[in-house]
Amino acid sequence: MILALESSCDETALAIVDDQAQIHLNVCISQISLHQKYGGVVPELASRFHFDVLDELSGEIRKALTNSSIHISQISAVAATMGPGLVGPLLVGSSFAKGLAASFQKPFVGVHHLRAHVASAVLDKVLKGSISERAHNIFPAYVLLVSGGHCLLMISDSNLNLKIIKSSSDDAAGECFDKCAKLIGLPYPGGPAIEKEAQKCTTQDDLALAYGWARQLPRPKSSAGFSFAGLKTAFRLLTEQDKKAKQNIPALCKALEIAIINSIVLILKKEINGDIKNLICCGGVAANLHLRKELEGLCNQQKMNFYSVPLEFATDNAVMVSLSAMLQSTKVEEKSVFSRGGLL
Ligand code: KG4
Ligand code: ZN
Repeated sequence: MILALESSCDETALAIVDDQAQIHLNVCISQISLHQKYGGVVPELASRFHFDVLDELSGEIRKALTNSSIHISQISAVAATMGPGLVGPLLVGSSFAKGLAASFQKPFVGVHHLRAHVASAVLDKVLKGSISERAHNIFPAYVLLVSGGHCLLMISDSNLNLKIIKSSSDDAAGECFDKCAKLIGLPYPGGPAIEKEAQKCTTQDDLALAYGWARQLPRPKSSAGFSFAGLKTAFRLLTEQDKKAKQNIPALCKALEIAIINSIVLILKKEINGDIKNLICCGGVAANLHLRKELEGLCNQQKMNFYSVPLEFATDNAVMVSLSAMLQSTKVEEKSVFSRGGLL
């Protein structure tokens, strides 16, 4: 059983998960409303907010250890995200976790944020049994990791050793959703806001408009990898040049959603060959239902198994940090916090 903390960006999260994938504690304190008026995360405010909620987290741990059946002796380690992420928030969360580990006399385990997203796939509802049995079933796998900071196609083994096949040459998929949403006045985070508007695009006329606009938006031309900067610029030009665009936000959002997802799927179609039979989709953008449907379709065509994260665990959370601490091989432990890059 691992107690874990996540504080890489704008969520302060705490979880206790056991090796049978039972979640004994799952708290997530979101800062979205704090950052919304700035249209994105302000790192200094985020660090202070993480610090301010530490008392609340201590209370949650105390409650879990006194009111539930968990005994401190069952906790084998305390884990925390070390990066990539915002350095201030990472320092607050990991220092707190190191303090907890010292006071509980447990080892401290550093976790790579991307590995944690990959580990969350063992929560797919079709899987049963212990964490290691689940991991045995789904790995090796192709992993599409789509979040606010990353858009990566990788291969992962059951110890979360990751090999990057394709990355983004500019923006990440979630970043493209966020920036385009901001352009048309939708709130941060943009991905869920765009999806919600796109779901309102249901009439034949609106759908025809959306698919027409989607065709005008570019897809990555080179085989170098994912790319969303051109799509973002084309979206801005569309909103400025076509008067109908801003008058039909659902169709506009649907067009953007189609173009982003199609850009992702095109790369996957080129890169995935039949040697590995599993595809995992994880990261915040994995909460998008249209993306899941498209990937399921692709896997059906290619006779592959598709695994994804339950919706509530797609965006940042601490459950995935516990899972990663259980699965990762010890050699990949992170020793110090880091903002970008870092070991894989
Ligand atoms: O993994 P995550 O919580 O944080 C990072 O590690 O970046 O991902 C956040 C990203 C944001 O860009 C957000 O707009 C996007 O995930 N996102 C979505 C959806 N829910 C969250 N994008 C598209 N559709 C969604 N339903
Ligand atoms: Zn994330």
